[in-house]
Amino acid sequence: MDTDLTRPSSVAGADPIDTLPPSFRWGVATSSYQIEGAVAEDGRTPSIWDTFCRVPGAVHNGDHGDVACDHYHRMPQDVALIADLGLDTYRFSVAWPRVQPGGRGPANVAGLAFYDRLVDELLGRDVEPWVTLYHWDLPQELEDAGGWPNRDTAYRFADYAELVFAALGDRVRTWTTLNEPWCSAMLGYAYGDHAPGRRNLGDGIAAAHHLLLGHGLATRRLREAARSPIELGLTLNLSTADPETGSAADRDAARAADGLANRLYLDPVLRGEYPQDVVADLAAEGVRIPVEEGDLDVIATPIDVLGVNYYFGQLHSGVDEQGRDRDDDGKPVRRVVRRDLPRTAMDWEIVPESFTDLLVRLHRDYPGTPMVITENGAAFDDKPDADGFVNDDDRVGYLTEHLRAVARARAAGADVRGYFAWSLLDNFEWAYGYDKRFGIVRVDYDTQRRTPKRSALWYRDTVRRVRGQR
Ligand code: FCB
Repeated sequence: MDTDLTRPSSVAGADPIDTLPPSFRWGVATSSYQIEGAVAEDGRTPSIWDTFCRVPGAVHNGDHGDVACDHYHRMPQDVALIADLGLDTYRFSVAWPRVQPGGRGPANVAGLAFYDRLVDELLGRDVEPWVTLYHWDLPQELEDAGGWPNRDTAYRFADYAELVFAALGDRVRTWTTLNEPWCSAMLGYAYGDHAPGRRNLGDGIAAAHHLLLGHGLATRRLREAARSPIELGLTLNLSTADPETGSAADRDAARAADGLANRLYLDPVLRGEYPQDVVADLAAEGVRIPVEEGDLDVIATPIDVLGVNYYFGQLHSGVDEQGRDRDDDGKPVRRVVRRDLPRTAMDWEIVPESFTDLLVRLHRDYPGTPMVITENGAAFDDKPDADGFVNDDDRVGYLTEHLRAVARARAAGADVRGYFAWSLLDNFEWAYGYDKRFGIVRVDYDTQRRTPKRSALWYRDTVRRVRGQR
């Protein structure tokens, strides 16, 4: 894609970040299992992540979320941190097994009360709550009944969404149904890297469809239940998939990667159809998407905001290192090309230009849907000083360049209305455990002490400057 188009001269010279409008939403994001701890308190039952963490070798260092950042007990202090940074929005997720243990039946009053207090605490400090209903912690009992590959889980999710909405809908305006269904479906059921750790492409694709169905069902229920204006949407992890060369094989590899990672989610939600080329790719693997009549109408229920999570770009090749475009089984070669680019501690390529490309492409291919960056950030090997302070220039650099990329996309017409840094706190980074630190605030896991890093102070000052408060 031609990135030059996205760099109009109007922002040349000045810092593009300063072109972000006063109405722009600024926040931080977290998720329940990654920070809360208190996994057996107030009636919470196990989620698939509690189970997965106990599988030997599944999570780095045998880490788990039993205590995590102990946010369940330190919530007011964490809300104060957000308010002190001058941010206007906090995106957090609700733990399904906390508010509806076992995944069905009535609400657990004690579990819901935590989120009730959290919402009040936020509002009391002028921070808007943004709720994500599902950030990967499926009740284990629902997994035992088949998990997301089982169609019934979509209906269970809609019931659960309604329970949470009944409790918080009077105070929460913005609702995200799912966080990154690609990760839940593919990492969880097809590739086995995430809970519940299955490795079956058919299960992954069935999970993806039922997650999207659950999204559509929940969106309809919340829309019907709302007594005041609300914003509904879902969050997708999206990226660019560029071909290494203009060859037919490379272009096809990029098409396939884009299809499976991006369009398989964007098209049904925003166009009411599955991409035919992906359907054909899957058929070649003997996999069918289990669509039933009416499903696509439900999935395409209009949303108000598309959450975009972006971390890295990728380059794709359709030939192997020997130059062959078919593998030994006669299947097309699909290969991610490692570029000579700076990387984060996750080994993810740092490509802010691709962020601009992605947002401009979304604007072009799926017009009319406002976007908010619901996650963007980076893990680096932080080195705290004796006081626990981290001078994380690398993270400041990453965030600066990615915010500039957002501003450039806006200048090129993309309707991006907000940005949330991932993450407020260092936290449980899934299969990487506590080893990878994404926080703008350091957490000392021995003492649970929080120390804002330089990136947090930079973020606070940037938000102030852009808002014209200084
Ligand atoms: C995203 C997840 C989030 C966090 C970041 C680094 O895929 O939504 O929970 O792990 O990656």
